[in-house]
Amino acid sequence: QDAKFKNEFDILEFAKGFYHYYLNHTKEGKVALDYLHNRGMSDETIAKFGIGLAPSYSDALVKTLANNRYSLDVAMKLGLLNEHNGQYYDRFKSRIMFPIFDKIGHVVGFSGRVFLEGDTHLGKYVNSPESPIFQKGKLIYHLNDAKLAIRRHNRVLLFEGFLDVISAVEAGFVESVATMGTALTEDHSRELRRLTDQIILCFDGDKAGLAAANKAIPILMAQNFSVSVVEIPNKMDPDEFIKTHGKEAFSKLIDQAIPAVDYQYRYIKRQFNLEFVSHREQFKRQIYHFAYTLQSHTLQELILKKLAYDISIGEQSILQEFNSSKSQVYKNANINNNKNENLQIHSRQV
Ligand code: CTP
Ligand code: MN
Ligand code: MN
Ligand code: MN
Ligand code: MN
Repeated sequence: QDAKFKNEFDILEFAKGFYHYYLNHTKEGKVALDYLHNRGMSDETIAKFGIGLAPSYSDALVKTLANNRYSLDVAMKLGLLNEHNGQYYDRFKSRIMFPIFDKIGHVVGFSGRVFLEGDTHLGKYVNSPESPIFQKGKLIYHLNDAKLAIRRHNRVLLFEGFLDVISAVEAGFVESVATMGTALTEDHSRELRRLTDQIILCFDGDKAGLAAANKAIPILMAQNFSVSVVEIPNKMDPDEFIKTHGKEAFSKLIDQAIPAVDYQYRYIKRQFNLEFVSHREQFKRQIYHFAYTLQSHTLQELILKKLAYDISIGEQSILQEFNSSKSQVYKNANINNNKNENLQIHSRQV
């Protein structure tokens, strides 16, 4: 009979308001606010992204929900609570709470970050558990608010972390989104592809980020995205880079984004020490594999010429060897009557 009971999104919206109020109006909140301010986050941004704080005691939200006659069973199902010996407790404690919205702006869950020095052993982030409304393989952070800008600029900037998105938006790049700590999926890619065909990967500059970009590229290219990659120097992530060097410097990095094919070539090359002839041989094989995956013959030839140069072998012998091993692949594929599958399998074995 009460509007509050209309649907489960209302509980999540209420929880968001609770955490946000607690951040802005309590002693514990003051400590968390200082943490956010020290990271360079403005109060305006804190409000805009609905950031909050989960209290340190374990029945803060559960009591408030009960007092406001929300169903605790539903709150439990939504991942706001834990159950222990038949009692409900808050799932998130002493964490800065980032609400996660779906593509039409409903709160569907939270990511909670530790901020107290002594809490780091508890794990940096706790997320809402997977549920029908919180599916990390599908969720894209900030998509609802980025949609218009993505269409207007005809491009999307994809980040690894939501704190990177928040910094990028503050720096003026509203067309920024992130996955929720998972590798990019086909679903993510399809969702973004509905809005634009240009994507710029702005992953962290560490090893994990470089590898994540390399993995995301084929998924995106398979859906005809034009992909380029921003390389953040000194293993920083975009948030750190923007805070250290400013938005103009970040804007320059975006302008200098590397086309995906060149990025992949360099990614493979970095794994070898080309002083060694055996490394050159292995490098060559890996580049052949990679070249097989390219649709365009021009790109294939350009990549192979680059390879020839890098390992000091004549272009003609590389092109010949590649083409004869390629026709070998086609032959095997035909024998087995299942062209595409075998093409892939054999090209991996070359
Ligand atoms: N992540 C997670 N759980 C972890 C670590 C990371 O869910 N234990 C997810 C989060 O969604 C995070 C993203 O992976 O936003 C990127 O991780 P990381 O680079 O470690 O975090 P940052 O976004 O850089 O956070 P911070 O700057 O506060 O360290
Ligand atoms: Mn402060
Ligand atoms: Mn990272
Ligand atoms: Mn990071
Ligand atoms: Mn970071």
